[in-house]
Amino acid sequence: MSAHQVSARALESLLGEWRSGSSAYAALADRIRLLILDGRIPTDSRLPAERDFSTRLGLSRTTVAAAYRQLRDAGFLISVRGSGSMTRIPGGATTLTAVGGRGMLDFSKATLPALTGLADVAELAARDLPRHLGESGFDPVGIPELRAAIADRYRSRGLATDPEQIMVTIGAQHAIALLARVMLGRGDRALIEMPTYPHAYEALRSGGARLVSVSVSAPDASAGEEGGWDETALLQTLQRSNPVLGYLMPDFHNPTGQTMPVDQRERVLAAAGRQGTVLLIDETIGEFNIDRAGEFLPFAAYADPAMPGTTVSIGSVGKTVWGGLRVGWIRAERPLIRKLVAARSANDLGTPILEQLMVTRLLADMPAIIAQRNAQLRTNRDHLEVALAERFPEWRVPHVDGGITTWVNLGQPVSSQLALAARNHGLLIPAGPRFGIDGAFERFLRLPFCYPAEETERAVDALALAWGSLLRHPLADTGYLADVV
Ligand SMILES: Cc1ncc(COP(=O)(O)O)c(C=O)c1O
Repeated sequence: MSAHQVSARALESLLGEWRSGSSAYAALADRIRLLILDGRIPTDSRLPAERDFSTRLGLSRTTVAAAYRQLRDAGFLISVRGSGSMTRIPGGATTLTAVGGRGMLDFSKATLPALTGLADVAELAARDLPRHLGESGFDPVGIPELRAAIADRYRSRGLATDPEQIMVTIGAQHAIALLARVMLGRGDRALIEMPTYPHAYEALRSGGARLVSVSVSAPDASAGEEGGWDETALLQTLQRSNPVLGYLMPDFHNPTGQTMPVDQRERVLAAAGRQGTVLLIDETIGEFNIDRAGEFLPFAAYADPAMPGTTVSIGSVGKTVWGGLRVGWIRAERPLIRKLVAARSANDLGTPILEQLMVTRLLADMPAIIAQRNAQLRTNRDHLEVALAERFPEWRVPHVDGGITTWVNLGQPVSSQLALAARNHGLLIPAGPRFGIDGAFERFLRLPFCYPAEETERAVDALALAWGSLLRHPLADTGYLADVV
């Protein structure tokens, strides 16, 4: 298999605003290191040749060579004869330990701790298993009792759903990737939000899509901005770019935590319906309603009943219950479900039965589980807001009424530097640009509030140390920062 080649142009755009107070080669090496660590450059990618890259950046070849040498010495690059410089993570990510001996705190994942009592649910599910042992166990569509339970849950939330409209998948990510593979052809356009959930746009890109983006912002009282979807751009992009798919998170958008108002949902649905664009609605974190005002139904409930194919909804228990319970689902019209089932076997042969039995049991308790999670999130959110206001009065921290993350404006385009510095203090946190494409969002940081108080305290301490070190070594070359989004 040939290695993934990162072109000089692609790497330049990923770098964003990379220059800092340190020498150019060290700043360049630092930024590439971050891109490798946070997954924006996959491991085993081939970096551009020194000559091409130095020409692209307008730097001397010795500077690029020195940056690559530093990355090689630190184990982030290896030279393969005939293949150039290949990216690596030294020792593997799991061996990272924090300064001071404690484990690295991983805030790159916005996810709640596993639901209490889950092992008991597994034991109960094991007792249900004999019912299925007479079957082949290869299950591309979902066991009937789980499909019925998922349909029931939609119905109880106000969206009439038949079990035949449900396909069970190995988590929501699998659902997104499968939909991308089945619905997109090479070069088709797909609309995404900006910022967005990175693994979704990676899946759409792997499906061959050309991405077009529409901005979603957090409210910013100091700038008098309400936040939310740029509706004009969203409607125009639907009309002009005619995307095959639009991937949206209208309830507690990840990472900004925003909710799309009901009247806006209706206008977006009408525009998508006119174009024949299918809206892929990701509701994986859509039920984390802490204290949102107003009543909202699942997005698909707002669709014109005469055009039911305009929405495809996806969900999972990855966030509500546990990331290790790899069960998600797709809600779509029957013909699309049939197409997805037919296409599935090229990549996998079905969702594990035991996990499906666990989720069938859990769905019966879902209202109580969600209520418990939302109480937890409310405490954590309030705690984080107080801590950030005390420690970082200069940051603009939007108040969110649901979801699991907040999208903080740092006031300066230093997110990558902050994320790198935080690593030295035991905190893994993705820089803002991880949630965009082309190096945007250098002023932003996604902060999850799904971790217990003690971990949040440690993370805020680490950020304070990292922020302090940044302020002591401010950016030298601000001219490079001016013109980026
Ligand atoms: C918005 C969103 N969609 C999908 C996923 C993936 O979910 P799953 O764990 O069910 O694959 C995540 C998980 O981070 C997410 O935040």
